[in-house]
Parts: sequence; structure tokens; C-alpha cells
Amino acid sequence: MLELKEITKRYGDQVVLDHVSFALENGIYGLLGPNGAGKSTLMNIITGILPSDEGAVYWNGKDIQELKTDYFEQIGYAPQQQGCYDTFSGCRFLSYMATLKGITKQAMEQEIERVLDFVNLQDKKDHLIRTYSGGMKQRILIAQAILGNPKLIVLDEPTAGLDPKERVRIREQIKTLGKEAIILVSTHVVSDIEPIADHILWIKKGTLLNQEETSDTNLEQNFLRIFEEECVK
Ligand SMILES: Nc1ncnc2c1ncn2[C@@H]1O[C@H](COP(=O)(O)OP(=O)(O)O)[C@@H](O)[C@H]1O
Ligand SMILES: [Mg+2]
Repeated sequence: MLELKEITKRYGDQVVLDHVSFALENGIYGLLGPNGAGKSTLMNIITGILPSDEGAVYWNGKDIQELKTDYFEQIGYAPQQQGCYDTFSGCRFLSYMATLKGITKQAMEQEIERVLDFVNLQDKKDHLIRTYSGGMKQRILIAQAILGNPKLIVLDEPTAGLDPKERVRIREQIKTLGKEAIILVSTHVVSDIEPIADHILWIKKGTLLNQEETSDTNLEQNFLRIFEEECVK
């Protein structure tokens, strides 16, 4: 179980996360909020990349700052797309990430085959990532996130910048990650997460909204109402 207690993060005078608390068990969770709400910051804190100013993150009851590698080995993280690793082939990128994750040489080949099959990139594995489409780049990022079957999978805007067909494909792939892990997916697009999420966490200006504020059964309406002042149409 993953538990956040009173996470607060500031950049200078700006409070980016304001006493965020929640607990997650296995299942698919959508982290839904407009740009600038604090989704990536929260994900960086959950994955231990960024320290919080206040509060702590607990994995099965233990502070992740104390667990360190024992925790990092159990998580998979696909950060918001950046142009890194463009000069690697898909396969080389996955080998590199598998090594960082401590996957043994013996297990590596089979594991890379498995994740390439999962994201349907077998035929492109020897091509440079630079030549991939936006959707293929997202898929290779998801592939590295699921190397080693992590118990916690964090995907930051995995459908950003994709065409409608790719969005649906990624969404369906995330769905098949199943119930064996905690899967946290951020997005600002309701339809990318609504059909597959077991739970939705709404975030607005660094604060998680409570159930009463998000009780509308129509999530799209909910989103527009809650984020009205921020939605640029
Ligand atoms: N390294 C940083 N330095 C200063 N401000 C930052 C930094 N990272 C994020 N912010 C600010 O924190 C807020 C939340 O950003 P972010 O977590 O990226 O939101 P989201 O992922 O929901 O779009 C934004 O106002 C952003 O400008
Ligand atoms: Mg973000």
C-alpha cells in the first residue's frame, strides 16, 4: 500500500502541493487536473525523485526515504515525455533501464521481449527512438516502466500529444496492466482515464478535492465545472 501524509511542496512563495494525503491499494487510479495543478510534482515526490517540504510517503507503512533502494526497485515510472534517449534504439534503451533496475543479465532478454510484446513494438526495437512517432515514444516509456513487474507503476500524462487512435491504444494497454499493482496515471483529459480507472483523484492548484466536490456522475461536466476558470477553450 502507498500512503501520502500531509505532503506539502513549495517553490519559493508558491505552494505547489498543499497538505496532500491519500492511500492507494492495487488498482488503476487517475490523477486528474489541469496543467499546473501539481500532478508531475506529486508524481516526482511519490517516486522519490523530489523531496517534499513537509509530510512523508509510506510504502507498506514504511517511510520511502528510509526504504530507499528497497522501494525504488518496486516502482516503475514513466515521466512526462521528454526528448531523452533519442540516440538509443528501443532495445538498447530497455537494456539500459533494465540494468538500472537491477534486472539480472540472465533474466534481461526475456523481460525485454515481454515488455516489447506488451507495447507492441517488437518490429521497431532496433530503430532509434528519434525515429519513433509520439505514440511509439510513449509506448517505449511505458515498456521501461513495467520492466520487472513493479508493484507501483506511475505514468505521467502517457497520452499527452497523441492522436485519438493512439490515445485509445495506450488507454487499453494501461487497462490490461490489471489488478496486481498500484497504477497511478495523470492526465488532464477526462476521457483518457474515465473508462479504465477504478478511482479518480481530482487535483486543483495543489489540493486534492474531496468526494462531495466531485460527486457529479458525468465526469466531463464535473471537470468543466470544477476547473472552469482554468479551462482555456
Ligand atoms: N522546478 C520548478 N520550479 C518552480 N516552479 C515549478 C517547478 N516545477 C513545477 N513548478 C510549478 O509548480 C506548479 C505545478 O507544476 P506541475 O507539477 O508540473 O503541474 P502539472 O504536472 O499538473 O501540469 C506549476 O505552477 C509550475 O509552474
Ligand atoms: Mg505535468
